[in-house]
Amino acid sequence: MNEPTVVFALPRRQDLDTLRAMLGTEVKVLGEATAYREAAALIGRHQPDVAVVATELADGDIASWLEQEAPLGKTKLVLMAPDPQPEDYRTALRLGAVDLLSWPANPGTVLECLRRVSRGPGERQGRIITVFATKGGVGKTTIAANVAAELASRRQRVCVVDLDLEFGSLAAFFGAIPEQTVSDLVRRRGAFSLPLVQEAMVTDPILGVPILASPLTPDLAPTVDGDGKKEAGRNYVAEVLRLLCLGYDTVVVDTASRFSEATVTALEMANTVLLVTAPDVPALQSTAKGLTVLVDKLGFQPDRLKLVLNRANAAIGLTPDDMAKFLDYPISYRLPSDGDAAVRACNTGMPIVRRRRSGPLARALAAMAQEVAGPPPRLLPRRSVLHPLGARR
Ligand SMILES: Nc1ncnc2c1ncn2[C@@H]1O[C@H](COP(=O)(O)OP(=O)(O)OP(=O)(O)O)[C@@H](O)[C@H]1O
Ligand SMILES: [Mg+2]
Repeated sequence: MNEPTVVFALPRRQDLDTLRAMLGTEVKVLGEATAYREAAALIGRHQPDVAVVATELADGDIASWLEQEAPLGKTKLVLMAPDPQPEDYRTALRLGAVDLLSWPANPGTVLECLRRVSRGPGERQGRIITVFATKGGVGKTTIAANVAAELASRRQRVCVVDLDLEFGSLAAFFGAIPEQTVSDLVRRRGAFSLPLVQEAMVTDPILGVPILASPLTPDLAPTVDGDGKKEAGRNYVAEVLRLLCLGYDTVVVDTASRFSEATVTALEMANTVLLVTAPDVPALQSTAKGLTVLVDKLGFQPDRLKLVLNRANAAIGLTPDDMAKFLDYPISYRLPSDGDAAVRACNTGMPIVRRRRSGPLARALAAMAQEVAGPPPRLLPRRSVLHPLGARR
């Protein structure tokens, strides 16, 4: 694989020297600037894969630069700021940046980001399906668990990641009790590897789906995505997802309903995003707001961002066509309401597609999972289904 080509623009010459020394020959630096005007000229001349640009330089700030000069063309923008705050991630999204890194930078994080951003989602082995909603309680975890269970029952190598870092309950949907979670993984220093990530997973006791569970208590969430990180500049979620893609055909990611660093990373890295909504006015209004970010700022199109209307047959006086018109976005999947099947499934830790395959909700979930994941890349030998890739309980 060719190394990513980059232009850096940071406030001081010595920052540029440090970054260049940290990254060695892993990236191809086509130019370095300490002012926006200089950066624009370099980007125009070299058209690098990625421009890594500070949010403030001697001749202004990033927002006015982008507004006045529109310098980027096909080059992807990664912002760098000292100690970014949650609102800075929103600003980064608004400005069309694909990532926001903190300065001083961690070399592993910068490298991971540059490789991911420059190569796009097509060239790795596994695919990522991220399940997201702008409103809580609309069925994200139900859908994530059932998509994964369906693919596992078709003998795909599939794993799930719970990025609802404060209140996630994905493991319970599989009847699994995690001994370790993602917070045990991020407690250690140094680079991760696929076996290390697998050590932190718990295995679904029926079909053997490995689950990277969310922290056992909400206070640990910032150690994964926030100011409690052991190594501040690292994007642990990006590192974990990239490694899981090397070991599984499909990585299904459940999220919380907010644009945190973890969520934005899982959205940005996804081959397919399932955006879940429900047929009620508050859910539709918040979905409409979310679409302004996902479509207008992150550039999602219906080929990659699929809208899922859950409980589609609930009688509320709006037709699916009315809803698609209101959202100005096509509805790709409609899942019927079946409280009995859905609630029993999560109460027994047995996904709907396993419990009652013939019911309308199970059939709709299974059909959606198969369509989204495509044909299985290869069949697994039967023997390994219970403990794929050595992930352990
Ligand atoms: N199609 C459906 N029909 C009936 N009930 C459903 C359906 N889908 C989900 N539910 C029920 O709705 C509740 C919320 O579902 P779920 O936990 O999957 O939502 P969520 O979006 O992950 O919520 P949170 O934001 O709290 O994580 C659960 O009790 C689930 O069983
Ligand atoms: Mg959930």
